[in-house]
Amino acid sequence: MTATTATGRGHGKVILVGEHAAVYGQPALAGALDRGVRLTAHPQPGPLALRATGWDLDVRAGDDHPCARALAAVGGALGLDGGWRLDGDGDLPARAGLGSSAALAVAITRALAAATGRALSADEVAAAADAAERCFHGNPSGIDVAVAARGGFGLFRRGHGLAPIAAAPVTLAIGLSGVPRSTAAMVARVAAARAERPAEVDVDLAALGAAAEEAAAVLTGSRDLDRLGAIFADAHLRLGRLGVSTPDLDAMVAAARAAGATGAKLTGGGGGGAVIALAPGREDAVLAAWRAMGKDGFVTAVGGAS
Ligand code: MEV
Repeated sequence: MTATTATGRGHGKVILVGEHAAVYGQPALAGALDRGVRLTAHPQPGPLALRATGWDLDVRAGDDHPCARALAAVGGALGLDGGWRLDGDGDLPARAGLGSSAALAVAITRALAAATGRALSADEVAAAADAAERCFHGNPSGIDVAVAARGGFGLFRRGHGLAPIAAAPVTLAIGLSGVPRSTAAMVARVAAARAERPAEVDVDLAALGAAAEEAAAVLTGSRDLDRLGAIFADAHLRLGRLGVSTPDLDAMVAAARAAGATGAKLTGGGGGGAVIALAPGREDAVLAAWRAMGKDGFVTAVGGAS
């Protein structure tokens, strides 16, 4: 083992279409954010340790904390049980549906792998980080870690991984509800809805998967942003029927539409977290509408970071 200092990075992500459907094997379209998590590994005797100041995070493997379990899981996947301290930070809001836990898992994996002189492929990084992602939510499809590891745009299918898509980035306004989401709780909610009314729920899940494929075709082909907006709008209605939207998220989507967005939807697990709006040339008006509701947000290119 080479005792050196090394840095690892994981991207945040936005799911454009197909969240929740991805858990059931449907395709989902996701793009990486420039924002993410960066960690530096320093040799330090004792158990693996992790400190991320902006997130108020200071844990060691063995602590009773999901991030400590994630750290131990990556250590286990890489055959490391100590000897490193990871320091760093994220410029991504945590628990907002923007893939912060996957970005953290990928940054841990990359920093530890680089510090110990291992050259891992993106698939190997995603596999090790997936063990960590399970510490945050019990049945992850793997989409978040796949995007956090690879960047760019991709069409994800559970069991098949992320098929990269060669498309120019798209500018989205991202609105933060300020309500922390629990992906695990929302995934469980969809499972309960599916147990209760399987036929109906499966129609929505399949339609979301088909919409993800159509949205990918729009990005690589026509670039018809009105059509992409319409796909977002329909996806939000379906996610609402699955039980993962909230009055707050619905109000943010409606405000974005009223401010000129061609379409808007919740992104990620739902139940809180973030919404995305496609509003070419009207992004600032959308942000202003959200701010008038007391909600923060930002405008960013999605799908360009790699
Ligand atoms: C969370 O970002 C996306 C979900 O589809 C869960 C998953 O795919 O693991 C809600």
